[in-house]
Amino acid sequence: MLRRLESTTVSVKEGREAGESPSRQASQEFDDDEDDDVYDEQEEVETGKVAWNVYLTYFKSMGLRNAFLGLLLILVSGGFSLAYSIWLSLWTGDEVFVNNSTESVKQAAMEKYLGGMSALGVGDISAVLCFTLAAAYCFCEASSNLHRTLLSNILRAKSSFFDVKPLGMILNRFSKDIDVVDTGVGWSVVYLAWTIIALLTSIGGILYATPFFVIAIIPISALYLYIQRFYICTARQLRRLSSKASSPIYAHFSETLHGCQTIRAYKHQERFIEDNRDKIEKFNVYRYFDDSSDNWLDVRMTATGGLLVFLAATFCVVSTQIPYLKSHLTSSLVGLALTLVFDITNVLNGMVWTISNVETNIVSVERIKEYSEIEREADWTTDNKPSRQWPSSGVIEFSKYATRYRPELDLVIKDFNLEIHSKEKIGIVGRTGAGKSSLTLALFRMIESAKGCIKIDGVDISTLGLHDLRCRLTILPQDPVLFSGSFRDNLDPFSSYTDSQLWEVLSQCQLKEYVSNQPGQLTAECGEGGKNLSVGQRQLICLARALLRKTKILIMDEATAAVDLKTDDVIQKTIRSEFADCTILTIAHRLNTIMDCDRILVMSKGTIAEFDSPKSLLDNKESIFYGMAKDAGLVE
Ligand SMILES: Nc1ncnc2c1ncn2[C@@H]1O[C@H](COP(=O)(O)OP(=O)(O)OP(=O)(O)O)[C@@H](O)[C@H]1O
Ligand SMILES: [Mg+2]
Repeated sequence: MLRRLESTTVSVKEGREAGESPSRQASQEFDDDEDDDVYDEQEEVETGKVAWNVYLTYFKSMGLRNAFLGLLLILVSGGFSLAYSIWLSLWTGDEVFVNNSTESVKQAAMEKYLGGMSALGVGDISAVLCFTLAAAYCFCEASSNLHRTLLSNILRAKSSFFDVKPLGMILNRFSKDIDVVDTGVGWSVVYLAWTIIALLTSIGGILYATPFFVIAIIPISALYLYIQRFYICTARQLRRLSSKASSPIYAHFSETLHGCQTIRAYKHQERFIEDNRDKIEKFNVYRYFDDSSDNWLDVRMTATGGLLVFLAATFCVVSTQIPYLKSHLTSSLVGLALTLVFDITNVLNGMVWTISNVETNIVSVERIKEYSEIEREADWTTDNKPSRQWPSSGVIEFSKYATRYRPELDLVIKDFNLEIHSKEKIGIVGRTGAGKSSLTLALFRMIESAKGCIKIDGVDISTLGLHDLRCRLTILPQDPVLFSGSFRDNLDPFSSYTDSQLWEVLSQCQLKEYVSNQPGQLTAECGEGGKNLSVGQRQLICLARALLRKTKILIMDEATAAVDLKTDDVIQKTIRSEFADCTILTIAHRLNTIMDCDRILVMSKGTIAEFDSPKSLLDNKESIFYGMAKDAGLVE
C-alpha cells in the first residue's frame, strides 16, 4: 500500500512538475478570459475558494451510497496495509527464531507467519481490486450525472442566459470541465483519501511502537498544515497569474498565424517577433516564481521530514531508558517505527501535492454546478393541456402586452393591444429595432410577458407548457438554421413524411431542381450549419420545413430577404395558396411582398404606430406606411 502510495505521490508530483494541473487551469482560463476583462472577473470568482457543497455535489452525483462504499473499501485496504506491517514486525520479533527452539517449532511458526502474510496479501489485493472497480463505476456515474444535469439545464436555459454568457464559456463547461471531471477529479480525491489513510496508518504504527511520539506529532502536524496552507494559496495565485500571462501568447501566436501574409507584405516580422518575446518574458516572470514556490515547498517538506525521522529515532532511544517502555520496545518495533517514519515523510509531501491537485480539479465541478443551477425556462408541459386541434382558428389577441429581454432592460414591446382574426394575413413593418422580431419571440415565449397577456384562440399562452405551445406554431426566423446532415434530416428530422411529400414541398420552394442535381439527392449533405448552401437556399429549406409542418399559425421574419425577387414572388404566392386557411404574420423588408396582406401593422419603438388595411394606409398620405411605400417606389 505504501509503495503504491509512493508511486501515486510521485506521479502526482511529476504531473504537477510537468505542469499538468496548471496547464489544465491555464487552458481553462485561456479559453475563458480571451483578453476580455469580463471573462477575467468571472474566472476570478470561479477559481477562488471552493465551497464544501461543491465536494458534496460531486459525491452526490456518484450516489452517496456508492461514495460510502468506495470510502469503506479504501479503509479496508488501508487496514490491510497496517496489518501487513504489524504482522511483519511480529514475525521478525518472534523469539521462537532466536531461542533454541526445535526445528519443528520454528517450521510451524514460519508456516503461521507465511500463511498470515499470504492471507493479508490476498486480502489487500482483493480490496484494491474491488475498490478500483467501484471507483471506476463511481467516477463514470458522477461524470455522466453531472453532464446530464448540465446539458438538460443549458438546453432549458432562458434565452437571456445565452445573451449574457459567451458561447466559448458554455462550450468550455462541456469540453474542458467535463474532461477534468472524467479523468481528474475522481482520482485526485482517491489519491487524497489514500494519502490520508496512509498517513493515519503510519502514525498509528509509529504510536504503537513509540507512544512518546505523540508529543512530536501534534506540533509537527501543525507545522505541516501551516506550510501547506501558506503554499497552496500562494501557489494557486501564482499559477493563476502565470496561466493568465500565457493567454496573450496564444492569442498573439494565432493572430500572427492568421495575418502571416499581411505581416510579411508590410515587412513587420521583426516587430511581431519582438512582441512575442515580450509576452513570453512576462509569462516567464510568473512561471519563475511559480516554479520557485515549488522548490520553496520542497525544502521545507524535506527539512520537516528530516526532523520527524530525527525525533522518531530520539524517542526510540529515550524509550529504552524508561522501564515500562523498554520491556515493550523490541528491535523489530524500532525498525517498524523508523520505516514508517521514512514513509510518512513521503506521505506528507504527497498530501500537499494532492490537496492542491484536488483544489485545482474540483474547480471544474464548481463550474459545472454553477451552470447546472441557472434559471430555467417555464415548464415544458403543464396540467393545462390544449386540445389536439388547438389552435383551430388561429385568432391571436394581445391585451395590454409588454415584454423585455431581461429584467434590468427597458421594455421592447409596450402596451400592445391587437386582435388578429382567423386566417388573416398580416404584414408587419417598422424600422430596424422597432420590435418586430421581439414580437415573434413573445409568441413563442422565448421572452416572457412583463405585463398583459397573449391569447391564441382564447387560450392564455402563459398557462400552457412551452412544448405544447411551440409545437403548434411555426416560425421562419430571420437567420435560417440548418443542422449538419442530409436534406432529408433537415426537412424532416423525425422521419414523419414520405419522400414524395418532401419533393412536393421542395418543388413549391423552387428547390426541387437543385436537390435532384445533387449526388444522393435527398440524402446529400448540407454541411455544418448548411454551409454547402447559399443563405437564400437555406431560407428556402426552412420554408420547405414550414410547409411540411403546416400549422394553423405561421410567422415569417424576413424569411425570404436573401432570396432573389423572382423566387421571392413565387414563394409568396405558394405560401398564400398553401396557407390560405391559416393565420400568417409576415415581417418584411420588401414592401411589395406584403401589399396583398389583409392588414398591415406598422411598429415603432415597440408600440403599434398604425394597423389597418394596406389600402386605407396608402390612402392616408400622412401615414408612415405611405412614406415607406413611397421610399420603396411602390406609390407615386
Ligand atoms: N437579445 C437581446 N437582448 C437585449 N435586447 C435585445 C435583444 N434582441 C433585441 N433587443 C432589443 O430589442 C429591440 C427590438 O429588437 P428587434 O430585434 O425586435 O427589432 P426588429 O424590429 O426585428 O429589427 P430588425 O428589422 O433589424 O430585425 C431593439 O432595441 C434591440 O436592441
Ligand atoms: Mg428582426
